[in-house]
Amino acid sequence: IPVDPFDLVIFGATGDLSTGKILPGLYRRDADGQLPEAARIVGAARSPMGDEDFRTLVRAAIHAAIPEKKRDREAIERFLTRLSYVAVDATGEDGWPELAAKMRPDVVQAYYFSVGPGLFGALAERLHAHGMNAETCRIVVEKPFGHDLASARALNATLAEHFDEHQIYRIDHYLGKETVQNLMAVRFANMLFEPLWKAQYVDHIQITVAETVGVAGRGGYYDKSGAMRDMVQNHMMQLLCLIAMEPPYAFEPDAVRDEKLKVIRALDPVRPADLVRGQYRAGGGMGSYHDDVEAPDSRTESFVALKAHVSNWRWKGTPFYLRTGKRLRARTSEIAVTFKDPPHSIFGDQEGHRANLLVIRLQPNEGIKLKVTIKEPGPGGMRLIEVPLDMSFAEALGPGAQEIPDAYERLIMDVIRGNQTLFMRGDEVEAAWAWTDPIIAAWEARGDRPQPYDPGGSGPEDALMLLHRDGRRWREIRP
Ligand code: BG6
Repeated sequence: IPVDPFDLVIFGATGDLSTGKILPGLYRRDADGQLPEAARIVGAARSPMGDEDFRTLVRAAIHAAIPEKKRDREAIERFLTRLSYVAVDATGEDGWPELAAKMRPDVVQAYYFSVGPGLFGALAERLHAHGMNAETCRIVVEKPFGHDLASARALNATLAEHFDEHQIYRIDHYLGKETVQNLMAVRFANMLFEPLWKAQYVDHIQITVAETVGVAGRGGYYDKSGAMRDMVQNHMMQLLCLIAMEPPYAFEPDAVRDEKLKVIRALDPVRPADLVRGQYRAGGGMGSYHDDVEAPDSRTESFVALKAHVSNWRWKGTPFYLRTGKRLRARTSEIAVTFKDPPHSIFGDQEGHRANLLVIRLQPNEGIKLKVTIKEPGPGGMRLIEVPLDMSFAEALGPGAQEIPDAYERLIMDVIRGNQTLFMRGDEVEAAWAWTDPIIAAWEARGDRPQPYDPGGSGPEDALMLLHRDGRRWREIRP
């Protein structure tokens, strides 16, 4: 179903996010028939450029982002006719009257701030000054949303000067991922799991976001952030919230976000002993972290593992182990819920008997796997083995199933639809920083170096110890 007609302005239109994700994503939605006839996209950036040059640039971006056999020439050309370009100076007056004149008053107006947070304030102010902040218009902002609590608060306050909360769409692209949303479907559209979803029955939960890439090429940003700010404060926090939250009364923006916020507020401070930081070494023909960021003394972490506790009635006593890192063995993200052992085994102590495990694979190969214990078939007596009930979405839904859209595609369409459910509210972002800040402050005060780890593995030794100490093990990082 096509969305309502809209004018979408992308500030920073020639940058990496815009050309790599936003514009190719919009093209795919268009090719799928989701953009109405009257949808227009305006590229805005500093350099002067004509409409035709911008279209040429976007055509090349689509070619770079989408493999040839999935491209449709006609659809691309049609998409390009929706585009125009205005050179604007974010901090000056150039280009603004021209941009304002392009906006049609009778369609949805959205402004995507695909620029560094340093420009958010200036853009918000200019939009206001040129009458482009009507009640119904929306702004979209990207991470990093602040560097700590103080800067996030300042950003929220700046945006609030000219826009209401219901107009601000803070993107965390993990919320746009298909399986992340499926997490809510699995929990709240089935009777099977929810009664067991609590400390009484859940031994522990592991959340892993492992990447094979390093930070070469974006060292300037990354070295000032590190894994804690880059991944834990936002993406991993969102996963933790969706796994741990109470059932919202409806799948509606504030109902969902209220419940997520309660989880963040219930998080205990992390003890220094429950935290591991790592930094990758050189290996496999690739440089070390230090080489990649060109800072031989950097103490920024490219890996974090930690044990978190959600102190509320549901979760008191169930640890949540989180780990994320670059240059690990495989690109894989998953959430694994390990249930407790049955209270008593009528079969005695048996090797094959393991606790039930529910694994939600976020990427790649999205799917859900439940491990159950059964009797080994055959005459050997009552021997127990563990078997998976495995559902790969791609297999279960067959080749006719719709291709899974990229996170950005879905989120941008939600902006146009005016649905904030999958976007972070200001108080949520601040609460996440309020939890993260003391962790970072504590390690900065200690001044120790992150532990080096070999590329292609599963992180530093101490990360393994974090679970061993508790008599548990991480799941293997596998493709
Ligand atoms: C980004 C981080 O937000 O998410 C990157 O800045 C990280 O460092 C990326 O690589 C991971 O996203 P995805 O969708 O590839 O899992």
